[in-house]
Amino acid sequence: MEPIYAAILGYLAGSIPFGLLLTKAAGLGDVRSIGSGNIGATNVLRTGNKGLAAGTLLLDLLKGFAPVFAAGIIWAGDSGDVAKAFAAGGAVIGHCYPVWLKFKGGKGVATNAGVAFGLAWPIGLAYALIWLSMLAIFRISSLAGMSAVVAAAAAAPLFGYPQFFPVLGAIAGLIIYLHRENIARLAKGEEPKVGSKK
Ligand code: G3P
Repeated sequence: MEPIYAAILGYLAGSIPFGLLLTKAAGLGDVRSIGSGNIGATNVLRTGNKGLAAGTLLLDLLKGFAPVFAAGIIWAGDSGDVAKAFAAGGAVIGHCYPVWLKFKGGKGVATNAGVAFGLAWPIGLAYALIWLSMLAIFRISSLAGMSAVVAAAAAAPLFGYPQFFPVLGAIAGLIIYLHRENIARLAKGEEPKVGSKK
């Protein structure tokens, strides 16, 4: 039963829609009605409020990290890594398909960053390095995010954590699927740069 409990723990944490809650609390309305309609930090930035975007990024990251880290402590021992992997999958699915928002959530990049650090810090470091360097070079959030999720999946076996490859590979597949509209815009050269209002 441990993997099921771990997945539920991850889902409950991941499904908290911080971007939506913060923008509503700040009186900025529903973030789903602007820009890409996404509830993530990139779209919160399109409200023009950098502090809220940074807060969304941090909280979305934490809600990925916390359940994975907690699962490793609660179910320490032989099944610890299995519990962590299920908590990881649950957290990203919770963010992308939150029951509270009729299963229409975000794209999972920030939550998966937290998940990566929770699974193993070297994977988190690879994620952060690729994410930030791609962002610095191209200034396109979706491209940086997709590169980071693929890098994390590749880093798992390369850095000695092959047990986390299945979950990170599945998450990478899901996150790329959720970016299909971004990919179409990237192909046409129409994907907006970070901070643009579109
Ligand atoms: O993390 C989400 C990002 O990769 C894309 O966001 O709002 O530009 O579709 P958005």
